[in-house]
Amino acid sequence: MKIVNYAGFRESAKARLPHFLFEYIDGGSYDEHTLRRNVSDFKKVTLRQKVLRDVSNPNTSTTLFGRDMALPIALAPIGIAGFYRRRGETQAVRAAEAAGIPIVLSTMSCCPVEEVRKASQRSFWMQLYMIRDRGFMTDFLKRMETAGIDTLFLTVDLAINGIRYRDRIGGLAGSQSLLKRPGRLFDILFHPAWAWDVGINGRPLIIGNVAPAMPNGAGLVQFQAWVARNFDPSVTYKDIAWLRQHWKGKLVLKGITDPGDAAMAVQEGMDGIVVSNHGGRQLDGSLSSIAALPAVRDAVQGKMTILLDGGIRSGLDVLRAMALGADGVLLGRAWAYALAARGEAGVKSMLDIIKEELEVAMALTGQNDVRKLDSDLALTQP
Ligand SMILES: Cc1cc2nc3c(=O)[nH]c(=O)nc-3n(C[C@H](O)[C@H](O)[C@H](O)COP(=O)(O)O)c2cc1C
Repeated sequence: MKIVNYAGFRESAKARLPHFLFEYIDGGSYDEHTLRRNVSDFKKVTLRQKVLRDVSNPNTSTTLFGRDMALPIALAPIGIAGFYRRRGETQAVRAAEAAGIPIVLSTMSCCPVEEVRKASQRSFWMQLYMIRDRGFMTDFLKRMETAGIDTLFLTVDLAINGIRYRDRIGGLAGSQSLLKRPGRLFDILFHPAWAWDVGINGRPLIIGNVAPAMPNGAGLVQFQAWVARNFDPSVTYKDIAWLRQHWKGKLVLKGITDPGDAAMAVQEGMDGIVVSNHGGRQLDGSLSSIAALPAVRDAVQGKMTILLDGGIRSGLDVLRAMALGADGVLLGRAWAYALAARGEAGVKSMLDIIKEELEVAMALTGQNDVRKLDSDLALTQP
């Protein structure tokens, strides 16, 4: 099947993945209103069509957090990507690198940061959750430094886990061993390509970054129990001050949608924020990312870098986000599905498609440089 867009990668991933994994990626919290809004609100951003400008050479490159990038895009942190394809994070980082962009590697990746770093020519960005055990945190930060990471994304919209019905019904949630859950064996047997690629050849299927803190096994079930014990819901800027003392690189807060929180991030000297609601997986009923962006942009007043994620399905959406004030975007499910569908080649092909779509959108709106978009480009906003 020829895949030409996001929908094609999603369909192909659905066919290849065991049901419980597809549901984990595809789902959001509660009735998934925010998840749907993240996508539908993008369609409410009407762009101005501008003609008769020389658009023969559009520039899509930019610099974010000191890194030159071919596109204003990075791969968002996505947990357990090694469950979607064999050593998935290493495949994704190679594809991102080939497209000239970084990945933000999830703390919850299967491949530890050292393995992903070995697979790549250059360093990348890293996502972090605040863990209660500060000893683990200091060791982890040292590992990041050794791997040459210079920019950390601290995820702040997951003080505790959102409630996701799809995971509870047929998916990942629960304390029973994954293989022992009803219907699981059949689910896997009906997806033999996945079983061979990941189930047999993709081992160890553990959460590599936190494995050192879990001597009795870092499989999914043990990991979920570890998260429940160790994620720190008491985090405030006091803890971020602690982080600042132990981390000399750049620090970005991921999961801001409120203008007051954004102004606070500026005041506290953050290097940037990601306008994000965790892909609709946390607070259902909250604003979509794209609807939240204009007020956040006004609060920030150009004093730090603003990225956005949530609902970006095409290069046209990338331009829409940037027209409303984002300096760049992260792609979440888009790369998770591309990876599950076609591995490294899939992620590269998805990025090629997004690049072409962005160039076309720029040309048809008369824009030559993604860093210098016309300020009146968006006619309407959600
Ligand atoms: C399967 C899945 C796993 C995710 N894992 C993480 C994670 O480990 N850390 C994190 O900060 N965000 C995580 N996110 C949120 C993404 O980084 C991102 O905010 C979201 O996917 C953007 O929305 P989109 O999928 O519509 O592009 C995850 C999202 C999905 C779909």
